[in-house]
Amino acid sequence: MKQDPSRRGPLRLPPAPPWERQSPTWQAARPSLIADALKRAVNRPSGNWYVIGASRDIPASRPTGRTVAGVELVAWRNASGALVAAPGACPHLGAPLRESALCGGRLVCRWHGLALGEDGLGDWQPFPAHDDGVLAWVRLDRAGGEAPTPAPLLPARPQPGRTLDAVTTQAGRCEPEDVVANRLDPWHGSWFHPYAFTRLTVLEEPDPNNGDRFVVDVAYRLPAGTGIPVRAAFTAPEPRTVVMHILEGEGATSVVETHATPLTPPGHPRPRTAVVEAVLATSERRGFDAARRMAPLLRPLVKRAAARLWRDDLAYAERRRQLRSEGRFPG
Ligand code: FES
Ligand SMILES: [Fe+2]
Repeated sequence: MKQDPSRRGPLRLPPAPPWERQSPTWQAARPSLIADALKRAVNRPSGNWYVIGASRDIPASRPTGRTVAGVELVAWRNASGALVAAPGACPHLGAPLRESALCGGRLVCRWHGLALGEDGLGDWQPFPAHDDGVLAWVRLDRAGGEAPTPAPLLPARPQPGRTLDAVTTQAGRCEPEDVVANRLDPWHGSWFHPYAFTRLTVLEEPDPNNGDRFVVDVAYRLPAGTGIPVRAAFTAPEPRTVVMHILEGEGATSVVETHATPLTPPGHPRPRTAVVEAVLATSERRGFDAARRMAPLLRPLVKRAAARLWRDDLAYAERRRQLRSEGRFPG
């Protein structure tokens, strides 16, 4: 009889072998396979869209300052709550507009009171911006240098009304491609993150003629020898994004989007990149709706778990970038 998924619990995992006795994955993790998947990802169009951060981190009460690809930005909400993003320096004498006052959806510069809105002023013109409900995006055509698109190329997401979302941001000394390359190496999971993953098996490798994705079976470790087995697919829909879709198991149709946003301009000798990771979790489990209503309490926990993984993954990405810049990268 098929088990009611809402009653299914985490599984007790048979004791795992000691870390050093698990199956090595280095032979499967071919550098050329990862490099080819990365090359295809970075050659996909982005429409010049960059993730600024979590949508909820741009409040209606005050402007928010960000730097993306070396461009200083100010982001705010207009009178109807829509996202606006514009150059971060006041067109009069350059005051930082992130410190301006927000009055009736317009920025009022602190230095001499110039009021600036989404209609722009002379050369100071807002950039196209997009709020997808979880993430805020800006389109920077000069930095991107590609054919622009009217909106970002978003992956499929679970139904908004049944989703718990959490967004984590961290920054590292690397380029977006180093972040994407880390995600296109699923084989490091149970070796490098043994506290989080176990029994990782790569079932499908990227084939450009068939979905260009990894499919992975993995168990997320929980305390007391239990874990949640899932089957997940990883794809890179655009040059700065890797998406994990849970295909089967607990939380099927949940999504984790990893977006790499360059902070420094292209070609910078000491590049910095922000990793913005959005977890959009959904579940058939009873009580998940209640959990969703508890989202303000649960969100920091989800964020803390993602932050631990990303500390390690950023170390991987930074190491990759360092070796590349020294001409020592073996891939
Ligand atoms: S610098 Fe902004 S009004 Fe003068
Ligand atoms: Fe990782």
